Amino acid sequence: MEPATIGGDGQRSRHDGPPGPGRADAPSSPARRRFLRFLVGFSATSTIGMIVAPVVGFLVPPRTQGGGGGRAVAGTLQDIPANTGKVVAMGSAPVIVVNTEAGVKAFSAVCTHLGCIVDFDTTTRHIICPCHDGHFNPSSGAVLSGPPPAPLPPVAVAIENDEIVLVPGGG
Ligand code: FES
Repeated sequence: MEPATIGGDGQRSRHDGPPGPGRADAPSSPARRRFLRFLVGFSATSTIGMIVAPVVGFLVPPRTQGGGGGRAVAGTLQDIPANTGKVVAMGSAPVIVVNTEAGVKAFSAVCTHLGCIVDFDTTTRHIICPCHDGHFNPSSGAVLSGPPPAPLPPVAVAIENDEIVLVPGGG
């Protein structure tokens, strides 16, 4: 058997075989182990977070202005001047707010015919449905002409400090 090669300085050369556990550059050194543990922990935490976050997001409903059916601010009186109207969101429901000679009124913006979203027409000063030319009275929501079978359901409105506040369930 041939003896192990020893260099001129009495140390084993780099070509003597794989690094052993006692060497400073070995993969099992404490610093490397801590770093690898950190990487594994970080990866596991990130993976769990990526799985859990969408599940929680799906199960917990988002908070919207108006609290998903609660009071909602439609804007100020300057946003909706006389003889104009605007469709706003009250939670997930569209509401048309109109500023008429009878005051500020609000109605569901879902047409009672086939469910299109209505709008305010400044020429006729009617709430109109673009789908089948339905016309509604902006003061009462009553059907004026066209195929809609019923008036637009009213939404209660309050004016608070120049703000137009929609109050669900108060129509
Ligand atoms: S959906 Fe509005 S008139 Fe038909």
